[in-house]
Amino acid sequence: MSKVYVTRKIPQEATDLLQQYCELEMNSEDRVLARDELLEKVQGKDAVLCLLTDTIDNKIFAIAGKQCKIFANYAVGYNNIDINAATKHGIIVTNTPGVLDNSTADMAWALLFAVSRRIIEADNFTRAGKFKGWGPMMYLGREISGKTLGVIGTGRIGSNFARKALGFDMKILYTDLKPNPVFEKQTNALFVDKSTLLKEADFVSIHIPLLPETRNYISENELKIMKNTAVLINTARGPIVNEKALIKALKDGEIWGAGLDVYHNEPDLEPGLAELPNVVIAPHIASATIETRTNMGMIAARNIINVITGKVPETCVNPEVIKYHNLR
Ligand code: GLV
Ligand code: GLV
Repeated sequence: MSKVYVTRKIPQEATDLLQQYCELEMNSEDRVLARDELLEKVQGKDAVLCLLTDTIDNKIFAIAGKQCKIFANYAVGYNNIDINAATKHGIIVTNTPGVLDNSTADMAWALLFAVSRRIIEADNFTRAGKFKGWGPMMYLGREISGKTLGVIGTGRIGSNFARKALGFDMKILYTDLKPNPVFEKQTNALFVDKSTLLKEADFVSIHIPLLPETRNYISENELKIMKNTAVLINTARGPIVNEKALIKALKDGEIWGAGLDVYHNEPDLEPGLAELPNVVIAPHIASATIETRTNMGMIAARNIINVITGKVPETCVNPEVIKYHNLR
């Protein structure tokens, strides 16, 4: 029977499914494995189900061994994995696209609303017993309906996020590597360059992967171009936004607020960030609904089961290695 390792507890439906096809070993503690534990545990496994908090590099693949066929990442993003190294070792890498589009887009909206309508500040105020009566100037926020939304990246999640804006009668601007006619048809969005988007949008939401060329995509200059009434939302990956520059922009009133689910150096926060009143900070929970996390587990499990039973996985990110595995 194939040996499979799961690096952390995930929804049980997924591990129950895996158990039917393999000899399953799992880190049953709800914590990230230390590097040396991970190195030890992957040895001799045919498949590994790993998380975005596991750094999977050449050394991990080398130590896993020649029998190892697949690392199934429990995330859509796979910047935690050295894909070139996986390919060099002939190891298949899979991710979990699609099933988290709604939950991630919903979270971007939740942050957009929370920042714009100052929900967290207002909740803290009310909870603290400070609400002494309605006030005409109390917790004034920013109107959302009818405003201009700037969408950076129109893949599955960015498109889903933008479609939801139609209910708020928003004008949609987007930027991407190239125009996306399907997206334009669905949303009436206008393709613009990055600086036009930053200049004109009231809300800017990021939906691109972390790549060498998207690091610091939003930094000092970009924040300066944005309206000082604008709100920035990041549910993608932390290093896409320069956090130091963001803190300064939020302090200096260069932008109005920010909603973040991801950070430069997770789980550490850049000093000063948590002290700002005009930022809402969530602990990387955009895909954290019961439905989505279960579905992510099921895709990762099915990818592993497919590969160990000789079938092509559903969602491979380095398909060029499939040919080494004699899969149907
Ligand atoms: C979460 O951040 C993911 O990439 O799935
Ligand atoms: C607000 O509560 C209003 O009635 O205007």
